[in-house]
Amino acid sequence: MIASSFRDCKAWRSEGLPLSTSSNEACKMYDAILTQYVTWRNDETLGGVEGCMSAVRAADPDFVMGHVITTGLELVGTGKSVRLDEGLAAAVRRTVELARSQDVTPRERLHVRAMELFSKGSFPKACDVWEEILVEHPTDLLALKFAHDGFFYLGAQTQMRDSVARVLPHWKPHMPLYSYLKGLYSFGLLETHFYDQAEKMAKEGLAMTPEDAWCVHSVAHVHEMKAEVDKGLKFMESTEKDWEVCDMLACHNYWHWALYYIEKGEYEAALRIFDSQVSRRGSASGAMLDTVDACSLLYRLEMEGVCVKDRWRELHQRILPHTDDHVLLFNDLHFLMASLGSKETNAPHRLVEGLRDLARAPEENWQHQLAGGLGVPMCQAVLEYDQGNFSRTVDLLLPLRYRAQQIGGSDAQRDVFNQLLIHAAMKSGEKHHHKLARCLLVERDAARPNSPLTDRLIQRAHALHV
Ligand SMILES: [Fe+2]
Repeated sequence: MIASSFRDCKAWRSEGLPLSTSSNEACKMYDAILTQYVTWRNDETLGGVEGCMSAVRAADPDFVMGHVITTGLELVGTGKSVRLDEGLAAAVRRTVELARSQDVTPRERLHVRAMELFSKGSFPKACDVWEEILVEHPTDLLALKFAHDGFFYLGAQTQMRDSVARVLPHWKPHMPLYSYLKGLYSFGLLETHFYDQAEKMAKEGLAMTPEDAWCVHSVAHVHEMKAEVDKGLKFMESTEKDWEVCDMLACHNYWHWALYYIEKGEYEAALRIFDSQVSRRGSASGAMLDTVDACSLLYRLEMEGVCVKDRWRELHQRILPHTDDHVLLFNDLHFLMASLGSKETNAPHRLVEGLRDLARAPEENWQHQLAGGLGVPMCQAVLEYDQGNFSRTVDLLLPLRYRAQQIGGSDAQRDVFNQLLIHAAMKSGEKHHHKLARCLLVERDAARPNSPLTDRLIQRAHALHV
């Protein structure tokens, strides 16, 4: 991307999305950050997202939407807690104060409001405000992307789909980043189980922009959800050169690739992807998405009976500084896997007790509101499994399985908890849990036929006494 091609003050105004700054450079850097966010790619010729964040601040330190996008991205990254990180809390306050002291547009004011709500963990209300922006300004891609991420963290699959469907007719092919709308829509379609439509939409996006890693990701999900393992492997291999440069998503796409190998029972190949891509990239980025993927991969392999050796230890070092963050229940559950896997004695209990404390006084924080009835018992289920209390794991997880969607993430990501319940039921000393395991596997096979992993589990379940 060439810096001069980014939109200046006049260009944003002519698109009906005026920005309250007189600095063309600030407008262009805002566009550069937005572009990198949408394309999942740090453009090193621009200094990456970090470099553009510094540049936007230097061009106009009081530019409200510059603060909205930089602070908003820190927040949706979920790697920092406003409760604990004074720098992030100060950045939110400064954005709010700047908006109060300036004559910004109603759209910009709503952006500040949404970002502030999100910072307090009030995710549903933040999404409402981003959607309010999109009613008047359906081409506001920042609002659309933030809403997409917000709905993802809420497990709000239908909203994730419809949020994009509503604005699509207002977009025209000549508009900057138009093709990326197809990837966003495709993801919502697949999470609501419209797999064929999702694949068609993603392929349309890829025909326009082969390097769209989010479209690739949608196709990877479709193959995962339909247990089309060989198609998935072929697709990832044939497109790797296009998406591996998208540094903010590549690790997650490699995670999907490794899932196909776990499905096939080719564990060494999965571990090779873990070592060469998932672990390496996650260590370098420190991104939460990359970190939870690494936890998920090792946990799935261990459930399959694979020895992952000392891989947990490095991962535990990475998650340790985030033990008290409690930004997402989804993250907490994965951090717990890593701290248990590394045989750390204090961290697992510290993590769960910290969450329990926050659940007692959740205030506006949606994740903490959910913690008491959902996050803490799910964490407890993971703890009990680690201690060999398999029947207790079943008793904790079974009543929550249809609510687990609320912890956020995708169906494919949360499948680790479906697998955990099945493994716990099979290992339980109670015979009725063995029957339950068979029932769960029949159900799994019906929803997702021809899965080699399900077939292996069915064979094991049939060997049990009932
Ligand atoms: Fe995914």
